[in-house]
Amino acid sequence: MATERGTWNYRDRFGDSFGRTYFRRFPPGVAASVGLGTYLGEPTDTVDNDYREAITAALDNGINMIDTAINYRCQRSERVVGDALDATDVDRNSVVVATKGGFLPFDGERPDNPGRYIREQYVEPGIVDPETLVRGSHSIEAGVIDHLLDRSLSNLGVDRIDCYYVHNPETQLLDRDPEVVYDSLEATFELLERRRAAGDIGCYGLATWEAFRVEPGAEQFLSLPRVLERATQAAETVGVDDHGLQVLQLPFNVEMADAFRRATQPAPTDADEEGPVSVLEYAHAAGLHVVTSASLGQGALATSLPPAIAAELAGDTTAQRAINFARSAPGVTTALVGMSSPAHVAENVAAGTFDPLGASAFDAIFE
Ligand SMILES: NC(=O)c1ccc[n+]([C@@H]2O[C@H](COP(=O)([O-])OP(=O)(O)OC[C@H]3O[C@@H](n4cnc5c(N)ncnc54)[C@H](OP(=O)(O)O)[C@@H]3O)[C@@H](O)[C@H]2O)c1
Repeated sequence: MATERGTWNYRDRFGDSFGRTYFRRFPPGVAASVGLGTYLGEPTDTVDNDYREAITAALDNGINMIDTAINYRCQRSERVVGDALDATDVDRNSVVVATKGGFLPFDGERPDNPGRYIREQYVEPGIVDPETLVRGSHSIEAGVIDHLLDRSLSNLGVDRIDCYYVHNPETQLLDRDPEVVYDSLEATFELLERRRAAGDIGCYGLATWEAFRVEPGAEQFLSLPRVLERATQAAETVGVDDHGLQVLQLPFNVEMADAFRRATQPAPTDADEEGPVSVLEYAHAAGLHVVTSASLGQGALATSLPPAIAAELAGDTTAQRAINFARSAPGVTTALVGMSSPAHVAENVAAGTFDPLGASAFDAIFE
């Protein structure tokens, strides 16, 4: 498991090769502000081999946050992260391993009949109540997450997942009443508090796509204060002092900067100003870490950035400038970049040799 000392040792080994604030505080110690994601790619042996090589190169060169999810590439991504952790010389206790649960995963390949697969593997054995399933494969019920978390521990071959995300909880809002969804979240937070107390996870969070980008009236909107109230309540029910909901993951890049630009959350109670604030501002005031997904717009921004924005960002290549946009946003800890190619790892980790923009320079981009 990641430890405070292990992650600081990793920083001491690599910190001098990078620019200002490349390593940033992240539970239980520090994490690189460029992380490796494992979402894209077909569920094949070839892509497994590419990821294995890329993850090893990342760990060997200054990236100590690896992000995956149980459903990515039919569980192959989690398994390949586990293989790479096993094979590397880098200490396990210096690496933050993050995964997610919410979408019921296939196993190794896509079945011919996904509906039948879900019914046979999850509904008939009693793992999931079909009433709680949205879009045929999404559930955030505590019993389901408990089951998925055990499988993730086994796929990753680790005794603790450092950061466990509830995956796209806003998907539930497409078919279910918001109050029911917040109740489900609270019950799942209770489970995650228990698993945290048992040492199976380090901290937990929400990984989202729509929830923290859209306006309050939108169907998939989540209120961050309400989510945090539910985490506080869950901790109280379980009898722990401080809740372990410490991280938000959300898409953020030049084209999807809503978490910074849109004031969708109420002002924090101790704020000087009245009126709504952005998710990044609310998260910062609440002491949450923010990790960005799709930092390269799923590849599109690696070759093309609006010239006026590119001109403000440091980097030798377009991809590096795009990554430096995400890791410069105030309140962001780590920009995740999906990379199954070792050449991309080398290019992307070198983004961290440039200093990020300061807060006022970042603000100025939008003026
Ligand atoms: N809702 C959620 O929870 C959610 C949603 C999306 C993503 N995520 C997480 O966030 C991570 C990052 O997002 P993402 O993978 O969707 O998108 P991304 O990081 O924006 O883009 C990844 C794509 O960019 C390519 N790429 C990487 N570096 C490059 C470079 N220097 N030059 C050209 N192309 C480059 C990758 O190719 P190669 O593979 O060939 O290197 C891959 O196809 C994911 O992997 C996942 O862990 C979470």
